[in-house]
Amino acid sequence: MFRKIALSAISALALTGGAAMAAGPAGEITDKAFSFEGPFGSFDRNQLQRGLQVYTEVCSACHGLRYVPIRTLSDPGGPEIPADQVRAYAAMLNPVIDAETGEDRDRLATDHFPVSGMATAPDLSLMAKARAGFHGPYGLGINQLFKGIGGPEYIYSLLTGYTGEEKEEAGSIFYANTAFPGGWIAMGPPLSDGQVTYADGTEATVSQMSEDMSAFLMWTAEPKMMARKQVGLTAVIFLAVFSALLYLTNKRIWARAKGYKVEA
Ligand code: HEC
Repeated sequence: MFRKIALSAISALALTGGAAMAAGPAGEITDKAFSFEGPFGSFDRNQLQRGLQVYTEVCSACHGLRYVPIRTLSDPGGPEIPADQVRAYAAMLNPVIDAETGEDRDRLATDHFPVSGMATAPDLSLMAKARAGFHGPYGLGINQLFKGIGGPEYIYSLLTGYTGEEKEEAGSIFYANTAFPGGWIAMGPPLSDGQVTYADGTEATVSQMSEDMSAFLMWTAEPKMMARKQVGLTAVIFLAVFSALLYLTNKRIWARAKGYKVEA
């Protein structure tokens, strides 16, 4: 019996490992230390605001954020932009077609961000959770237990991974990228040094903008991360105290059976 289970477990591992490796060589991923990692990590508000700026000025030309309600920009734990500025920001985005009148109207804070303007550019709302940076060893993903799934690391490595080489194939141009699986991506390098002027004076290097953008996309993919971690921590503390009480209660209940003397 045990041998059968062990055999099927081994063959299942071999199969999944094989499938992951068949997807082509995984790219090179830089393991960045983001502020939101670990049980006590939290989003850096200024960084999220810088990421929003990069998205607005650069990426939004092609990519949408269709699952993100604009009003959440002022939620606690996120970029925390004041509500009046969020309303002004919404009005500046592409107009929407009103569901009732069928006519164009200004985008409101209660609407979502626009969809991708370029058909081949994927929506970025959930990208930080849709991609994995760490696959190994042997495609088993064991590294993910220690380093996290690595979505933001993947996006950072993708944005900084251009080698400058290009090739034309069937009329399309592909750009060499060390992080993209397969090595050639149809998106040209979107960032160059000094492309945006950060409102907070941070120097806008490609690496800095990529890091801010990855953090921002982690927030769009998991806006309630802070609340989730806080509930987790509270639960762990509660369970620790509760276990201690259970242990003491148990000792007391069985004390007489074990022949100890109990007062009253
Ligand atoms: C000129 C249009 C354009 C701009 C600007 C642009 N992208 Fe892209 N992006 C694309 C296209 C097209 C693809 C699909 C590439 C492919 O699948 O080969 C893509 C793909 C991606 C992917 C997915 C890669 C994957 O694993 O499938 C990410 C992440 C991404 N872009 C992030 C960004 C970020 C962040 C910015 C802003 C800094 C940005 N893009 C700016 C056109 C653009």
